[in-house]
Amino acid sequence: MSGVTKAVRRTVLSVVRRMPPAAVHLPDPATILSAMPVAVVVLAEDNRFAYANPAAEQFLGLSVSQLAQLSLSDVLPEDSPLFLMVGQLRSGASSIADHDLSFEGPRIRKTGISVQGTTVAEEPGHVLLVLQDSTTVRALDRQIAARNAARSITGMAAILAHEVKNPLSGIRGAAQLLESSVSEPDRELTVLIRDEADRIRALVDRMEVFGEKPVTMEPVNIHRILEHVRRLARSGFAEGLRFSESYDPSLPPVWGNRDQLVQVLLNLVKNAADSLHSTGTHEGEITLMTRYQHGLRLATPSSDSDGRVDLPLLVVVRDNGPGISEDIRPHLFEPFVSSRPSGQGLGLALVAKIVADHGGLIEVESRPGRTEFRLHLPMVAEEDSA
Ligand SMILES: Nc1ncnc2c1ncn2[C@@H]1O[C@H](COP(=O)(O)OP(=O)(O)OP(=O)(O)O)[C@@H](O)[C@H]1O
Ligand SMILES: [Mg+2]
Repeated sequence: MSGVTKAVRRTVLSVVRRMPPAAVHLPDPATILSAMPVAVVVLAEDNRFAYANPAAEQFLGLSVSQLAQLSLSDVLPEDSPLFLMVGQLRSGASSIADHDLSFEGPRIRKTGISVQGTTVAEEPGHVLLVLQDSTTVRALDRQIAARNAARSITGMAAILAHEVKNPLSGIRGAAQLLESSVSEPDRELTVLIRDEADRIRALVDRMEVFGEKPVTMEPVNIHRILEHVRRLARSGFAEGLRFSESYDPSLPPVWGNRDQLVQVLLNLVKNAADSLHSTGTHEGEITLMTRYQHGLRLATPSSDSDGRVDLPLLVVVRDNGPGISEDIRPHLFEPFVSSRPSGQGLGLALVAKIVADHGGLIEVESRPGRTEFRLHLPMVAEEDSA
């Protein structure tokens, strides 16, 4: 494998040389490749494995010494789309990406794989493949889609708030006036008008959060918010359910807006409670957890100069309910998506909007008996706390 390693090394080095001088003190490119958390393999002209980094060994479930004896057709059936991709790369395509592939061969069985392939400079016929479980990629895609969905209703929310609220209060007031002068049977109708006006008003109030009003951010203690939400839930919609907390007491403050974060957590806890009540799950339990977790960075519009922001504060809301139904999963964060007869489908759209405004990220993992919403939030930057 050493010839190819050298070629890969040269490719990495040529990139490194193009970087500004300050960035040149990097470890050996081979070390970088070994440390990479994504699987990288190189195939020789005859499709034998010419290189695999440790992540690739793990991904394929085969060691480098095993892989050195094998070719791609020992791992995957010849009709796998990957062969087509490799062929296209050899016949001149310089870079191809493919998503949602299934690897089903005698030694491997995986679905939802993303592959990116390129040719290797100076090693004719060699192809470099980067393999990734696309569930992570997709989780991020969905988050971005959710942000866009939330944005697309911001305009509508503003119009609703503006154009509906005023006439609505007129309608409500008129119904109230009539109530005192109409006969008993008609009073039922005026009460109906009043109640429905109240319902629309409440809906519009909820939609208003989607408007682009600036919010003030400050250092916020997330544990206080969690305890506040837990108290509200306990005495209201989550009565009879068990709560368990696992807080990291050394967690630094979140950079955020208190009222909006209360709304986020209330909605997540309410959804958990709704799902537990809907099935009457025995021993229904909601777990609230916080952790300090390094390593998640995200490009956000509100991020600092390098365009990326660190999201080390993790807040988890978990329940042991039936899980999110398959049919709504792809659209979970979009407005008006609901599986509940009385649901407006606004809770998670609102959550997505607020989390995005905080420069954070929300992920979901759900299976029967365990649904987890993970909120990644930014901490207070030094200049903000000054
Ligand atoms: N913890 C959960 N367990 C199971 N399903 C969930 C959970 N959280 C959300 N869902 C599903 O996602 C859907 C959308 O949730 P969302 O909060 O946006 O709307 P809703 O709860 O139906 O209505 P609203 O919050 O506006 O009253 C829910 O109808 C439900 O099907
Ligand atoms: Mg909800």
